[in-house]
Amino acid sequence: MEINLKKIKAQALKDIQAIKDSKEWQKIEKKYFSRKSGELAKLLKDIKDVSEDLRPKLGALANEIKIEITNALAQKKADLDLQTESELEKDFIDVTLEIEKYKLGHLHPMTQVQYELEDIFKSMGFMILDGPELESDYYNFEALNIPSWHPARDMQDTFFIESKDKLVLRTHTSPVQVRAMQKYGAPFRGVVPGRCFRNEATDASHEHTFYQMEGLMIDKNISIANLIAVMKELLKGIFKRDVEVRLRPGYFPFVEPGFELDIKCLICGGKGCSVCKQTGWLELLPCGMVHPNVLKYGGIDPDKWSGFAFGLGTTRLVMMKYGIDDIRLLQSGDLRFLNQF
Ligand code: PHE
Repeated sequence: MEINLKKIKAQALKDIQAIKDSKEWQKIEKKYFSRKSGELAKLLKDIKDVSEDLRPKLGALANEIKIEITNALAQKKADLDLQTESELEKDFIDVTLEIEKYKLGHLHPMTQVQYELEDIFKSMGFMILDGPELESDYYNFEALNIPSWHPARDMQDTFFIESKDKLVLRTHTSPVQVRAMQKYGAPFRGVVPGRCFRNEATDASHEHTFYQMEGLMIDKNISIANLIAVMKELLKGIFKRDVEVRLRPGYFPFVEPGFELDIKCLICGGKGCSVCKQTGWLELLPCGMVHPNVLKYGGIDPDKWSGFAFGLGTTRLVMMKYGIDDIRLLQSGDLRFLNQF
């Protein structure tokens, strides 16, 4: 009997030591302390049957062992709780702490305005096109009615790439006019937002890299009235109100007739101010009716079709919209500037 008690004690302490979690703890506790089937309960019951002279000694021993196992279990429980608590501490998150916010970037003001313009044109059924920035001399000049001897080339000096195909960094988005005509034919409606380059002495209003949005519409019986109507719709979209426009003659070899489109100064309403240099008008975009030679270069019969084209200076528009007085800021990558948009 005595030996049996000691065996149970040894086994119990071994069992308790092996406990890893509260589930196992409960199982072991039940194994020893269950009223009906617990090992200790069984033993205490057996003690009743031993001879009277042995009973007190065995009873005392059994009690001692019971207390020892109870203590070991309690200790184990405390250890387990401690462990989980320290684990909790490790995973603790203080939800009240200020955390550093993710610094999300945003679109460049040029891109924001470009997307806005694209939406306006898409609503009028124009497609949005792309073209190469490294363009051939042919598409940049020749096919736009600017042969190599033409003085108009002087106004668009650019960066020439040494290659047998005579490549240039495009000076405007107009080369995509001919590319689009060749690809899509007539009728056609599209705009081409894009980056252009010129060999400029840079200052607050001149930059070697800038953005334009070319527009081209070709159909039957297209006239200057259509050009003005589309321009007015565009300006209404940009400035969110009706804008008065006027056309002045302007020369570009690829349009005939060619114009400079002015808008009534939005600052002074036409009375004259420093922004419009006291004229009441702001020069906004060059445009005109597509020259028959250019239609021919694009594979379109000028006797059947006509069209208009315009070259919106997106960079200038962005400067006007946000009151930016130095064009160089746009390309500077300076976050103090960019974070304002
Ligand atoms: N491509 C011309 C420029 O950059 C602008 C323009 C486009 C003029 C279309 C007329 C028609 O100067």
